This record gives sequence, C-alpha cells and structure tokens, in this order.
Amino acid sequence: MSVDAGEPEPRGVGAVEPRDLRFALRAATDAAHRRLDAGFAAHDLSRRADYVRFLSAMRDPFAQIETWLDESDAADLPPDWTARRRSLLLQADLSGLAISAPEVAPAPLPRTLSGAEAPGLLYVLEGSRLGGQVLLRQVLASPDPLVRGNARFLRHGEGLRLWPSFATWLGTRPAADHAAAIRGAQRAFALFEAAQARG
Ligand code: HEM
Repeated sequence: MSVDAGEPEPRGVGAVEPRDLRFALRAATDAAHRRLDAGFAAHDLSRRADYVRFLSAMRDPFAQIETWLDESDAADLPPDWTARRRSLLLQADLSGLAISAPEVAPAPLPRTLSGAEAPGLLYVLEGSRLGGQVLLRQVLASPDPLVRGNARFLRHGEGLRLWPSFATWLGTRPAADHAAAIRGAQRAFALFEAAQARG
C-alpha cells in the first residue's frame, strides 16, 4: 500500500487502496477458506464417490450466486462475467456421473442484496479456480474414465488466465465499495460451508 510518509494512515477496511481489495478479501475469508479446505482434505478426487461429493457441495452455492449475479441489475461485474459462469458445467459433470439435478432449486439470495457485494461474491467463485487446478490434477489422474471424462467445471478457462484478469478488475473497484465486497465474500463462503455441512 502506498501512503505518503508523514500522512497518518487511516485504519479499517474503508482505508484500503483499490489494488489491495484482493488482499483484504483474502484476509477476511482466510479462516473460512481453511475450514472449507480442511473439510475436503480427506477427499481423493480421483475416487468417484469423493469427486461426486465435492461437485455436489459446489453445485448449490454456484447456482445461487450465479443466478443472483445474472438477475441483479445493480451487480458490479466485470465485462466478461457471462464467460465466467460455471453452474451449467457443474451440472453437466454431475449428470455425466449419473447424478440428477435437484428437484428443488436452492433458495435464492435476497433480492435486497447490495450490488456492491458482487465483486466479493465473485471473488470466491473465481478464487476457487486456484485450488481447482490442484484438484483437477487428481481428477485427471483417476483410473476411472467417468471421473476423468467429467471435468468440465474444473477445466473451464484453461489457458485463459481468468484469475489474473479478474484480480486486475478487482483492483479497480472503488474504495467506498470495499466493505460491501467483503460482506459478499463472507456471504459466499458461508454458502459453501453450509453446503459442505449438508453434504
Ligand atoms: C477443496 C479444496 C481446496 C483447496 C486444496 C484449495 C486450495 C487453494 C490454494 C492452494 C489457493 C492459493 C493458490 C495460489 O495462490 O496460487 C487457493 C486460493 C483460493 N481459494 Fe481455494 N482451495 C480449495 C477449495 C476452495 C473452494 C471450495 C473455494 C470457494 C468456493 C475456494 C476459494 C479460494 C479463493 C477465493 C482463493 C483466492 C485467495 C487469494 O485471494 O489469494 N477454495 N485455494
């Protein structure tokens, strides 16, 4: 963070400079990410049952968040947002693994959610691509052709550098919206933790 020497640096989220939003989001969600990660630690995604459990835990939060981002006129989104969606790929992988779509759609996110939460919600979806690369290696090393052949969700965006371009966009969000973005990221992680607990 560049603050002129001699100028007192104001404290708190609102004081974070635009390019630091990513690090503020990471700090604010680090504990939740660790819990989620730990919950999947015993999973070996080369095994079909574990892979299905992982994809199933991703399905509802991805659907809930992407639907809200799609339907909210106020959502603050990158221009290539529609190319980032992965819910349908998740569903296609699960269908390929003989898991049918849920009969009841997950509860929608509140319509009253501020559009300024969108960058934080999307941070969690886009950030999951990073750990996803490690997980993809497990999936592609599976002896089970049904596992290897249903990796659309984890393979999405290969070679497109979607995370770096998202991080650059995140760095342009106005400082006034940072607190809302952090609420969005925490809300997103809570959805993933709830889905994992149901799992
Ligand atoms: C299943 C186990 C998971 C593992 C092993 C894992 C691992 C990782 C790793 C190693 C990174 C850092 C990569 C790097 O900096 O190059 C990362 C980043 C991240 N992961 Fe995960 N992850 C997992 C699941 C998830 C899930 C399910 C989500 C959210 C739905 C998630 C959200 C994020 C986010 C937001 C970041 C970016 C943090 C930052 O700003 O640097 N991860 N993950």
